[in-house]
Amino acid sequence: MSNIKIQNISHQQKFSYDLAVIHKENYPKSHFSSHIPITVLNDLYFSYFRKMTIYLATFEDENCGFIIGGDKSHLNYNFSFRCILSIISTYLQNPKFGLKKLFIPYMFDASSMNIPNFRIFSICVVSKFSKKGIGRTLLNTIENEFRSKSIQKYGLSVKYFNKEALLFYLKNHFNVSHVSGENIYLDKHL
Ligand SMILES: CC(C)(COP(=O)(O)OP(=O)(O)OC[C@H]1O[C@@H](n2cnc3c(N)ncnc32)[C@H](O)[C@@H]1OP(=O)(O)O)[C@@H](O)C(=O)NCCC(=O)NCCS
Repeated sequence: MSNIKIQNISHQQKFSYDLAVIHKENYPKSHFSSHIPITVLNDLYFSYFRKMTIYLATFEDENCGFIIGGDKSHLNYNFSFRCILSIISTYLQNPKFGLKKLFIPYMFDASSMNIPNFRIFSICVVSKFSKKGIGRTLLNTIENEFRSKSIQKYGLSVKYFNKEALLFYLKNHFNVSHVSGENIYLDKHL
């Protein structure tokens, strides 16, 4: 899609709420995160700024998607007590998510799975702009940045029931490295 503008907003925290809105409205409803209150998502996205690389895609000043990636060891989620209460309350209102966590066995310990430190934490394209190549453009943009930092491999995880995202990653040459509970871990050599 031509006329899509991709800008690096890594240091512009004012965009945090925009990212939270895109997430809330466009992550699949099967994803727990789309049920948590927008204020909590805003806190989550706020914590990525300055430490992670964030690109925003716009079309004629309308937000159409974003990607966030970087070094996992620099991540520092700083949830307030209010946020933690909101997350617990979301679990209580949507008990199937809590039950899944209790009953799906976690066969692997993520720390022992040799998951690359460089990761994609979130990618989301507004549904009315989907399948127009914006997700791929965002991925290519962050990959170029990783290459410029001499990163040779990066990874991410996706829920097994998020078929659209899984197909998207497979089409973009990711390999499955592990499956643990409901998470599929993918990585890609650059
Ligand atoms: C996954 C997502 C980012 C893809 O973005 P997108 O802009 O629609 O993807 P693109 O148009 O760049 O697609 C790139 C390739 O993936 C394929 N693809 C994308 N969505 C697909 C789908 N639903 N089914 C099959 N293939 C798909 C496209 O066909 C394209 O391949 P092609 O060029 O050979 O045709 C988008 O669907 C999304 O935001 N989903 C909701 C949020 C989410 O689940 N994020 C991931 C969490 S892990």
